[in-house]
Amino acid sequence: ELQQYEHYMLKEIMEQPEAIKRTLKGRLTEDGVAIPELEGFLHSRNLQSFEKIMIVGSGTSYHSGIIGKKILDSLIEIPVEVAIASEFSCEHSTLTDKHLVIVVSQSGETADTLSALKEAKKYGTPTIAITNHWKSTLSRQADCTIYTYEGQELAVAATKAYTSQITGLVLLAIVLAKQMNGRGVEQIPVLLDALHSLSEDVEKCLIMTQDAIDQFAQITNDQEKIFIVGRGSDYVLALEGALKLQEVAYIHADAYAAGEMKHGTMALITPGIPVIALATQHHLREKTVNNIKEMKARDAYVVGITTIGDDSISSVVDEVMYIPEAHPLLMPILAAIPLQLLAYYAGCVRGYNVDRPRNLAKSLTVE
Ligand code: F6R
Repeated sequence: ELQQYEHYMLKEIMEQPEAIKRTLKGRLTEDGVAIPELEGFLHSRNLQSFEKIMIVGSGTSYHSGIIGKKILDSLIEIPVEVAIASEFSCEHSTLTDKHLVIVVSQSGETADTLSALKEAKKYGTPTIAITNHWKSTLSRQADCTIYTYEGQELAVAATKAYTSQITGLVLLAIVLAKQMNGRGVEQIPVLLDALHSLSEDVEKCLIMTQDAIDQFAQITNDQEKIFIVGRGSDYVLALEGALKLQEVAYIHADAYAAGEMKHGTMALITPGIPVIALATQHHLREKTVNNIKEMKARDAYVVGITTIGDDSISSVVDEVMYIPEAHPLLMPILAAIPLQLLAYYAGCVRGYNVDRPRNLAKSLTVE
């Protein structure tokens, strides 16, 4: 089952081009996206009357939800909020049938997430599930389900689940934008083109980053702290990268919005401390470069991750790693790859069981 891989986590990271292909399979048409599972649901609702969308998930699925919000924000008009499933019932007693709740969960069995779904149903709020597990409790209880079809994920850390969920959220966003005639509909043809080459881009990204990340991971062996910073969707990536490092390599990894460092956390930057600076979004790069300079001035060891062809950060960081350039809304899928690999190799260097981290379970069936 493991084929040539030593661990499921690496196997599943490497499977992402295939997993994404499966999520997209049969769903990309000449001029749009077809998700037959959604049709009955969408026809029975007046999408124009929706007032707000809420996305809910736990852990990595919460992080893909935040990326989902950014994608929806650029394609449709109505406000989109994201909530951590375990906080959902504490915060959202104002749901109505004019809201749409999107629930994201790889397993479809996470208790916190199921309880958020139950909360939404209490208010008659329509629900869409995005999950990998066929006939999971989540898919049985939601009004309709978009399956990610990424294949079985056995390592505790979610890797291909994250990239497949974002792919599923992009598909859903395109369908909703078309039906709601959202502000971003003119972007859809370019986005569709980019989806066609997404699996190939992910493949390239794996090839471009694997060895360099493996090498960098070796120097994390004696580090107890790592900072990951970025702006916009790169900040969300930082959250996801930090979660992976905590989970698999037991490193105290902290994610910060790059511009936020100077408001307090900069005090923790000491000489040699590793910082991963993500700069995969063109329009935010200049400001991120300024933030990197501030950290370099305190002698942090900065590894920059940017897109190929960008030379704005190479002169300000200690090391730079390049990933392929794709549509800005799809960059969070590519940028996840080096961070997943880093957690994997750092966990291995430290001698931990990367597939079965301590204190964690794959499916969390208690709240
Ligand atoms: C992190 C991880 C967890 C899960 C979370 C939700 O690598 O695996 O944070 O993402 O427990 O699980 P699902 O998606 O099954 O609801």
